[in-house]
Amino acid sequence: MTATKSVPFFNYPRAYLDDREALLKIFDDVGSRGAFIMQKDLREFEAALAAFTGARHAVGVANATDGLELAWMAVGLRPGDEVICCSHTMLATASAIKTAGGTPVPVELAHDGLIDPDAVADAVNPRTVGIMPTQLNGRTCNMQSIMDIAHRHRLFVVEDAAQALGSRFKGQHAGTFGQAAAISFFPAKVLGSLGDGGGVITNDDHIFDRVYQLHDHGRDINGEVRSWGRNSRLDNLQAAILSHNLKSYDKVIARRRSIASLYQARLGELAELQLPPAPNADPDHFDIYQNYELQADRRDELKEHLRLNGVGTLIQWGGKAVHQWERLGFTVKLPKVERFFERCIMLPMNMFISDDDVHYVCDQVTAFYRA
Ligand SMILES: Cc1ncc(COP(=O)(O)O)c(C=O)c1O
Repeated sequence: MTATKSVPFFNYPRAYLDDREALLKIFDDVGSRGAFIMQKDLREFEAALAAFTGARHAVGVANATDGLELAWMAVGLRPGDEVICCSHTMLATASAIKTAGGTPVPVELAHDGLIDPDAVADAVNPRTVGIMPTQLNGRTCNMQSIMDIAHRHRLFVVEDAAQALGSRFKGQHAGTFGQAAAISFFPAKVLGSLGDGGGVITNDDHIFDRVYQLHDHGRDINGEVRSWGRNSRLDNLQAAILSHNLKSYDKVIARRRSIASLYQARLGELAELQLPPAPNADPDHFDIYQNYELQADRRDELKEHLRLNGVGTLIQWGGKAVHQWERLGFTVKLPKVERFFERCIMLPMNMFISDDDVHYVCDQVTAFYRA
């Protein structure tokens, strides 16, 4: 069977080709200045990122995984310290806790696929020092509940906001609730660079100092070595590209929200699916739809049907939750997360798909269940 149309899950070449002229100008400008490491473009991007999120500080780092680890190192974890995290998240969330010296404790998810505040509250024990919610798929968790728990038990909060730049809960930006957060600029992220990249944001001057030193060989903002550190700097060229992309970010978010509305309108009636919350479903949440992840009956058959009809889909994290990587020492069972991973699938959600493409995807999904 030959598919009549092709809707790839993501189109990496177009991340460059669709904006080639402007990007070539940036390469030429940065290259001609020889401005490769820690130059004004990086400073400007960090200032723009802080202004956009409302955070007091932003530090460009090599990737969000590093950013999360540096944030926890800045907070300070000791062996035996437990940090409660999501299990429906990238392994990077848990690995950042581990490599910073603590122990990740994955817990259950709520109806929207994000960490369940009740499960967080239940997991708190005398070894708990922190909570690390993942602001997944471009949605911010109920941070009021999370912060209430954190205040009640005097816990640190580092947000994994890798997927959530611009997402808000009750008007406040993802990444600005706790001590610090990291954001990813992986090319497929809503704000993507042309390679790896990340940012740490924080409102805390001390955490900023520590992360800054850790990411640049222990040097402070004046270049004085104050402590041990390493190199986890964001490339200046990537920073210049990110500043350029940030200028059209509001439009990008609006487009992604309109794609989500279209999916909702076309697929909302199918009883076999559980869609993510629609853009205006809850005034407390402003979602940016990094991904459009739903739960589907006969998920694997649906995926194959879509593939045969030219539609690319993805099952996040290779189809495994954090706690299911048993070789990493997890023994806990989390039935809701496990059930979720049997049913979850992501449909195309990016700037390269047209409304016609979305209709085509929906036609194929509908045909599968109505056959
Ligand atoms: C939820 C989450 N956390 C952490 C990361 C790690 O980000 P990076 O690839 O920039 O290290 C990602 C990247 O996909 C992610 O989605």
